[in-house]
Amino acid sequence: MDRFEIVGGARLTGRLTIKGSKNGALPMLCAALLTDQPFVLRDVPDLADIQNMHRLLGELGAHVDYTPTEGINSPGGVTKIRVFNPEASHARYEIVKTMRASISTLGPMLARRGSARVSLPGGCSIGERPVDLHLRGLAALGADLKLEGGDIVATAPRGAGGRPGRLKGGRVFLGGPFGSTVLGTANVMSAATLADGQTVIEMAACEPEIVDLANMLNQMGAKIRGAGSPRIIVDGVEELGGVDYRVLPDRIEAGTYFCAAAISNGDITLDNCPVDALMATIDHLERAGITITYETGKDLLRTTCRVSASRVLQPIEVTTQPHPGFPTDLQAQLMAMLTLADGNSVITERIFTERFLHVAELSRMGARLFRQGPTVIVSGVRTLKGAPVMASDLRASACLVLAGMAAEGRTTISRIYHLDRGYERMEERLRLLGATIERVSEKEPAGAMAGA
Ligand code: EPZ
Repeated sequence: MDRFEIVGGARLTGRLTIKGSKNGALPMLCAALLTDQPFVLRDVPDLADIQNMHRLLGELGAHVDYTPTEGINSPGGVTKIRVFNPEASHARYEIVKTMRASISTLGPMLARRGSARVSLPGGCSIGERPVDLHLRGLAALGADLKLEGGDIVATAPRGAGGRPGRLKGGRVFLGGPFGSTVLGTANVMSAATLADGQTVIEMAACEPEIVDLANMLNQMGAKIRGAGSPRIIVDGVEELGGVDYRVLPDRIEAGTYFCAAAISNGDITLDNCPVDALMATIDHLERAGITITYETGKDLLRTTCRVSASRVLQPIEVTTQPHPGFPTDLQAQLMAMLTLADGNSVITERIFTERFLHVAELSRMGARLFRQGPTVIVSGVRTLKGAPVMASDLRASACLVLAGMAAEGRTTISRIYHLDRGYERMEERLRLLGATIERVSEKEPAGAMAGA
């Protein structure tokens, strides 16, 4: 297992190119199972989760060819996919347990092949992660769903004359106790493209990744309206063609570097920045005293954005919400930044109520944090102190990297494999901005946990 060694104090300055979105690319790669035509996806980041998805698609009867790009600051790589064996329809637990997005292969396989077997994803460190809404949505399209040995065994209603089954359009409400479901909306919307008749998804997720997925599916011949709003309407078609599509930039990677500039009193410029998908984040950071400017004459999903920080950060209140609210995936990174604000901030987590594993680690670095259920009071301190800390999940890892860069002295972050799931060559990209950070390979201690 690798660790990061960081010496804090550098003021980050310079320029980075934001890569394609991990959370955009994952459901798009699943949607490749909807066609047997050539499928090309561009600006795909070189991440552990993406590599696992490529491996899974290979087990599901697709030939997958990924060409990464060389430069630290270049766009993401290119994935070419061609399904050749629609019989291989079992997404095994060994892969699914390492990456929850595997569940989004269920809808496309069910819609195109008439049946599928996908392991139930386990929970993870940020919460139980149920998939009941996914299953409710697919059942509304006529799927028969059984649980066998930890796997979901799904079949579409048998077609006339014993033809493989086809799903039937229907109406489904995808709202749960914490709002809608992003991957659940992707799963059901993708499946509905090949169902007979019209599907209406009520309380659909409005995330930019859903809009991008719908745009890609429509380029494949689907008929989707309303993506980005809580009501998505899909008119099923007979089959989908191939596509050559570029993934939208990663708003969470961009927001993470916003916070990196803020916590280090830095001044960085981000190219290929999805400003239009970051309005809530920009609002909160501006209220904390950060200066954010961007070019308006271009596509606001791929523009150039400059983020600079004054000496003192102002405390703010923030509650995570579904898009277009403040994203839960930036909660930990914002918390790291607010540990150094001039006063008390209040952070409330409404999407994953257990997403606070970074609190204990930040406290080891001298942060003053007081958790009350879904809320953490962040009482600003003058400095953080470097310390050995442990990464627990993807965004908590990013939070600790930011804190280590601002802390006095040396910070060691173990279990950095969590970070590699969602940030490509982060240490190299931060060094480009002036950070003092090294990746050190550790001997695998006995009994080290795999995946997470
Ligand atoms: C996606 O996860 C993202 N992952 C997550 O990013 C992100 O935090 C999350 O959306 C919320 O924005 C990918 O896109 C690969 P949800 P997803 O279904 O779709 C509950 C990261 O750091 N729920 O929108 O799995 C659920 O427990 C990752 O990049 C149900 O109750 O999340 C949660 O409380 C972490 N039943 C809420 O809904 C269900 O069937 C939102 O979950 C599904 C979800």
